[in-house]
Amino acid sequence: MKTAIITGGNKGLGLAQSARFLAAGYRVHVVARSDGDIAKLGDQVRLHQVDIAEDKNADYLSTVHAETGAIDVLVNNAGMHLKKPVWDVDAEEFARVIDLNVRAMFAACGRYVDLQKEQGGAIVNISSMGGLMALPSAAAYVTAKTAVVGLTRSVAVDAARFGIRCNAVCPGFIDTDMTRAVLEKDPARRDKIEARIPSGTFGLPEDVANAVFYLASDQAAYVNGVALPVDGGYAVGF
Ligand SMILES: NC(=O)c1ccc[n+]([C@@H]2O[C@H](COP(=O)([O-])OP(=O)(O)OC[C@H]3O[C@@H](n4cnc5c(N)ncnc54)[C@H](O)[C@@H]3O)[C@@H](O)[C@H]2O)c1
Repeated sequence: MKTAIITGGNKGLGLAQSARFLAAGYRVHVVARSDGDIAKLGDQVRLHQVDIAEDKNADYLSTVHAETGAIDVLVNNAGMHLKKPVWDVDAEEFARVIDLNVRAMFAACGRYVDLQKEQGGAIVNISSMGGLMALPSAAAYVTAKTAVVGLTRSVAVDAARFGIRCNAVCPGFIDTDMTRAVLEKDPARRDKIEARIPSGTFGLPEDVANAVFYLASDQAAYVNGVALPVDGGYAVGF
């Protein structure tokens, strides 16, 4: 049985990713700070309660590797948004966004490659369309998600010799509980966003999960270092 680790795999987009890997017969290990919605996944999932921003060397990966003998797939999904323009972001806030979205992912990629050198494997990093283009009032987030794309390419180039691939997914506007809650109060804003999306609607968490699963699978055996938008065409223009 193959093993996948999904950070933040108990909520939002990560929950759909956990469900996708479970459906394909993977043993899924979720790394998150709390239970979240993990009960929705049944009893097949292992939860590791870890604050990945605090676990500076991504030791949680060594814990799982010692237990399972191999980690076939690592999905670095956990992340945070900050909705502020550059002049309103203080140094501490900027450091928090970079620490979780970039530094923790950097540490996880390094630890993963080190552990899987003999076995190969696949990493999928969750960036954002903010990794491909500027978004309004999101300077720290866009900076972080753009760095995720650079990290992904660098890991792809360095780890290919070990049979390890590294790709990124860049989700656009996705219908999650959070976006629904915000936009239900402001339907006009939702209409405006949808008018700008070439496909005409928000995506679903399952759309992102399918892309993550594809990049992690052998179907993508010759795909390495890409940043794949899952955004209904938003980032390429209208
Ligand atoms: N929701 C969207 O529309 C959207 C769009 C583009 C990109 N993304 C990216 O997708 C990823 C998931 O987004 P989401 O909206 O599902 O997020 P969410 O806030 O619903 O869930 C985040 C998950 O990450 C975990 N997490 C956060 N900080 C952590 C920490 N320090 N240690 C351990 N776990 C931690 C949380 O426990 C939670 O499970 C993020 O990287 C986000 O930037 C989301």
